[in-house]
Amino acid sequence: MYSKEELLEGLKTTVVGRKLFLFDSIDSTNACAKTLAEADMEEGAVVFADFQTEGRGRLGRSWLSEPGNNLLFSCIFRPSLSKERAGLMTFFAAVSAAKAIETMTHQIVECKWPNDLLLGGKKCCGILLENSFTQDGMTHSVVGIGVNVNQEKFEQSLQTKATSLKQVARKKIDRKELFQAMLYELETQYGNVVKGNFDFILNEWNRRCTMFGKTANVVREGGTITGKALELSPDGGLVLETATGTEIVYAGDVTVLT
Ligand code: BTN
Repeated sequence: MYSKEELLEGLKTTVVGRKLFLFDSIDSTNACAKTLAEADMEEGAVVFADFQTEGRGRLGRSWLSEPGNNLLFSCIFRPSLSKERAGLMTFFAAVSAAKAIETMTHQIVECKWPNDLLLGGKKCCGILLENSFTQDGMTHSVVGIGVNVNQEKFEQSLQTKATSLKQVARKKIDRKELFQAMLYELETQYGNVVKGNFDFILNEWNRRCTMFGKTANVVREGGTITGKALELSPDGGLVLETATGTEIVYAGDVTVLT
């Protein structure tokens, strides 16, 4: 396990990660960051853990990660965003993480809607955003990032779906360097969020997305919807051309068919 001093040494950010909470083991870094955010913890604060006993995934699932081999952290942001534009935070987080992974592996990362990152067609990074609002807009956004860094074995059910940076890059990845690269990209891209400049972020996301023009199944609450994936809607939904017309989905699990 790293010490706080080690993780901060050489860090190039001015705000993100400067306030750092470190745990050998925790229930969930997102849960912890959310509690801190609700107690007015400052923007940029990061919760880092070596292991999670109740790691949270999207759609109520859990996030499993071997102790000591991966990256698990959550960061608090406080952008002035309306509820309508809050979904765009997903793309900010995905693009930041993708860039950091590319720096470390020299491989192109694929973005899968809404916020999975893939290497060689398999998931290497999951992102969970937990946003809070008042009537005036967003109060905070907790960005939780889990990366399979040096893990080499995945449980049976994940073997065809999951990979790690080490498996793809064929070399051990320095977790501290990756963490610092992630914080640097989050801080850099957050500059665009603050300026309301999501165009750059969405362009970066779109050019890493390979599903447009293909038929996709989206499993969501209330059933499965099938259609040709056309583009992102301005608020971050997935626009599908279905047999009965155009539909926009905002949550769900995507499988690309053709
Ligand atoms: C997903 O793909 O379903 C999202 C997974 C997000 C996992 C990360 S690990 C760090 C942070 N803390 C959590 O409990 N979840 C996120």
